[in-house]
Amino acid sequence: MSPQLTEFFDFLRFPSISTDSRHKEDVRSCADFLMKKFESMGLKPELHETPGHPIVIARSEPKEGRPTVLIYGHYDVQPVDPVDEWDTPPFEPTLKGDKIFCRGATDNKGQHFSHMLGVEETLREHGELPVNVIFLLEGEEEIGSPNLAPFLEKHRDELKCDICAVSDTGMIGPGIPTMTYGLRGIACLEFKVHGPSLDLHSGVYGGAVPNPATIVARLVSALHDADEVIQIPGFYDQVTPLEPWEREMWGSLPDGDAATIAETGVAGLLGETGYTALEQRWGRPTAEVNGIGGGYQGEGSKTVIAREAMAKFSFRLVPDQDPQTILEIASQFLKDQCPDSCRIDVELGHYGPAYVMDPHSKYGKAAQKALQVAFSDEPRLIREGGSIPIIQSIKDILGVDTLLLGLALPDCQIHAPNESFTVTNFEAGIRLNRALLEELGR
Ligand code: BES
Ligand code: ZN
Repeated sequence: MSPQLTEFFDFLRFPSISTDSRHKEDVRSCADFLMKKFESMGLKPELHETPGHPIVIARSEPKEGRPTVLIYGHYDVQPVDPVDEWDTPPFEPTLKGDKIFCRGATDNKGQHFSHMLGVEETLREHGELPVNVIFLLEGEEEIGSPNLAPFLEKHRDELKCDICAVSDTGMIGPGIPTMTYGLRGIACLEFKVHGPSLDLHSGVYGGAVPNPATIVARLVSALHDADEVIQIPGFYDQVTPLEPWEREMWGSLPDGDAATIAETGVAGLLGETGYTALEQRWGRPTAEVNGIGGGYQGEGSKTVIAREAMAKFSFRLVPDQDPQTILEIASQFLKDQCPDSCRIDVELGHYGPAYVMDPHSKYGKAAQKALQVAFSDEPRLIREGGSIPIIQSIKDILGVDTLLLGLALPDCQIHAPNESFTVTNFEAGIRLNRALLEELGR
């Protein structure tokens, strides 16, 4: 195995799960690993404490007259459960053919580590970079980056840059260079419905008292109509419709409906009437249940009316929906729909707005040139359904756009068991970084 892959595997072994407090020390050890790596590359690393997980910054020796590129990534990862569904241990990187299986392999360790190695190669060969580089790697992206925007505010001057580059999005297929010019936003909430003051015998009391599990199911189903249109009053008020050129461009990509079915294993599509799967995934807002529970979940039957039930939601947002407004109207809707015989508690979670940039700007074109060089093919322009809320904060606070140059393949299974990254894309990422810094420095 190449020394670069060996090092990457060492990075992957840290179980840096940000949401799970039992892994707090693992997240820190992972940040320490990055510090050492940056030091050995000859960059000047800094570890910044936050109320949560640390932020790692590393900069090249600044040279007058060269643009400064901020390269963002996140070294935290999603939880691994259901752990039984992994074919190999989630934190033991395993190479099978071209694929490296490990939690975080694609999202996001592999993608930003290849940028680090690109910089290392250039420095080793030329002793300097064509641009000034600042790496900003955080450990809280998967929990909504609660401490990063305040950090950007506080360090606005030291983080002054001309453009930001991030590889944390997808490619539409293997070998197809893809530039993402828009991301959906996100807004999360959860609610609990409380009914009786204790669990009840469902024969003795059933039929006369509200069953919180039934009410949760009713509230969830009230969110969409038969055309999959979201029923919260005002939900679509701020939605910017898709541009005709975008619909045309996405329509010319390989069949997104068929790909969506193939990638997900569903028997058929189910989405908002009047839109293709790619439009639904990249350009339309959603309301998704991410968790739902209540009552007996064990083996066999248990005749009980559980005293409470819950659901967790995330809304994906498009320009120009305001996440806070969406959370307010969604929470009002749930309260209005809940019968008086129950009590509902709504807890608002993390949120961030959607992002769009002009792919034909000076730096946008430079990024496309770099993709062309790295993959020897014409880049495709897409938006993505996933969210990286900090990208809009980078725009608001540092005043720069972000080039989203993703290396995630459709079958890489981020956030799911058996996440993988290909050696091919790991190497492409190194080439991409080298070409990108070259093009941005012109
Ligand atoms: N890398 C993803 C975002 C992503 C994935 C964008 C695929 C485009 C295509 C990122 O790590 C992520 O998972 N973000 C979270 C947001 C967060 C606030 C929890 C998401 O989208 O669920
Ligand atoms: Zn993620």
